[in-house]
Amino acid sequence: MSEAIIILDFGSQYSQLIARRVREAQVYCELFPWDAPAEKILALNPKGFILSGGPLSVYEPGAPYIPDYVLESGLPILGICYGMQALTHALGGKVAAAVSREYGPALVETNSENPLLPPGSYAVWMSHGDRIESMPAGFEAVGFSANSPIAVMCDAQHKRFGVQFHPEVHHTPRGKEILQRFVVDICGCSPSWTPESIIQQEMERIRRQVGQEPVLVAVSGGVDSSVATALAYRAVGEQLIAVFVDTGMLRQGERQQVETAFRASLGAHLIVVDARETFLNALKGVTDPEQKRRIIGETFIRTFEEQARQVGKPRFLIQGTIYPDVVESSAPDRAKAQRIKTHHNVGGLPSDLSFELVEPLRYLFKDEVRAVGEALGLPTALVWRQPFPGPGLAVRCLGEITAPRLDSLRAADAIFTSELERAGLLDRARSDRIGQAFAVLLPVRSVGVMGDQRTYQEAVALRAITTEDYMTADWARLPYDLLAQIANRIVNEVPGVNRVVFDVTSKPPATIEWE
Ligand code: XMP
Repeated sequence: MSEAIIILDFGSQYSQLIARRVREAQVYCELFPWDAPAEKILALNPKGFILSGGPLSVYEPGAPYIPDYVLESGLPILGICYGMQALTHALGGKVAAAVSREYGPALVETNSENPLLPPGSYAVWMSHGDRIESMPAGFEAVGFSANSPIAVMCDAQHKRFGVQFHPEVHHTPRGKEILQRFVVDICGCSPSWTPESIIQQEMERIRRQVGQEPVLVAVSGGVDSSVATALAYRAVGEQLIAVFVDTGMLRQGERQQVETAFRASLGAHLIVVDARETFLNALKGVTDPEQKRRIIGETFIRTFEEQARQVGKPRFLIQGTIYPDVVESSAPDRAKAQRIKTHHNVGGLPSDLSFELVEPLRYLFKDEVRAVGEALGLPTALVWRQPFPGPGLAVRCLGEITAPRLDSLRAADAIFTSELERAGLLDRARSDRIGQAFAVLLPVRSVGVMGDQRTYQEAVALRAITTEDYMTADWARLPYDLLAQIANRIVNEVPGVNRVVFDVTSKPPATIEWE
């Protein structure tokens, strides 16, 4: 990267969103904890700093502050909420508790010319307790709201700005425009972070790292590993060896989809391992969700290791780590959350497997990964596919996993998905787009009657959710007639199933997957 915007994270839940909005303006940025080492940040050739919001008050003991090198750099600064208060505090202004907390939508009026917010009325999202009482020398107030006489402040000469609201969130409709003005007009960054430039840069990085040596990759059929594989192939061609493990826990047609996408380019360098028996044997009698995850993770590693040995154990391994994983793992406070599920990502291998990792997607958000995938010519169905858990159908086949039960589940899932597709409900342009939809096979038998015969068979649960980020989710309001059609097809076409139910729980309190 020749230039970057640096976002310092003061603990806001929206920090990643700031980074995404800046990237949407096609400007490269990176997010760091506020106290990250200066050398690391200055090495990126910063063109400006954005200071995030945060939960504390600037006067609290141990409250984060703006490191000296930021102020000494003379570069443009935009402080958001806590960032604005920290800027005020650092430069000799005064911050005080607001008379009333301001949380939710507000209207900010700007009345004087300034480079950040041209005069006008802006719908914004506020979320703060403290506010600016007196500004540091050199600043003028250029925007106010009902509760914040200083909602926007600006020192145009030194290119320092503060906004009390959150321009990064959805609820500030013109926020993206404000951030774009800061990074492009004020900091002078060129909007050159495009899928093509990302591809070029990552190809060079991969070539530099691996030289002429062979490189291994585990393709899972998921978006990240597919894009990483396509990118690596573009960079090193024949040096790449891709291993795809059929665990038997895949959805209908998944193995063929991967073969279709990669066989033409990789040829014999795409190794498809049929490990269905091995996985089934390892899972025999197991019903506990976490134990299923553990067994699948371990079995996958053993299978992959064996393949790696057979091809001479290359030194390098491509891994589809993406930026949110990197940011999460460097923010210790966020990692304290209770573990609800062990997210073993099949295809994501542990570091003790002693490969040198090549991570071409390390700096990309999911939407950028997809854009790169499209630019690389991967099939749309692959690039836009729904998230699929690493342990696959194992955590959707409740109870003991057997080959016939997996077959029934696969068939029910394929009916559900194809009917949703036919009804246009998976169309990604829809605002009420379904984020994930799948069938779950329940180890519960109930009585039914089919053609005058008593049946005593298992039930399928249908799960369809809408979500922004998969951290919370709501159940999708599917039309009754469509549900009727799906249920009818499943009980008629899927062996061993005589009842269909629809899951109407949100997350929380439920999770998206049933296990
Ligand atoms: P939950 O069920 O926790 O799922 O609400 C949130 C998202 O994560 C996916 N998921 C997994 N992904 N390994 C994964 O790689 C797993 O073990 C796993 N469990 C859940 C789930 O599909 C949803 O998108």
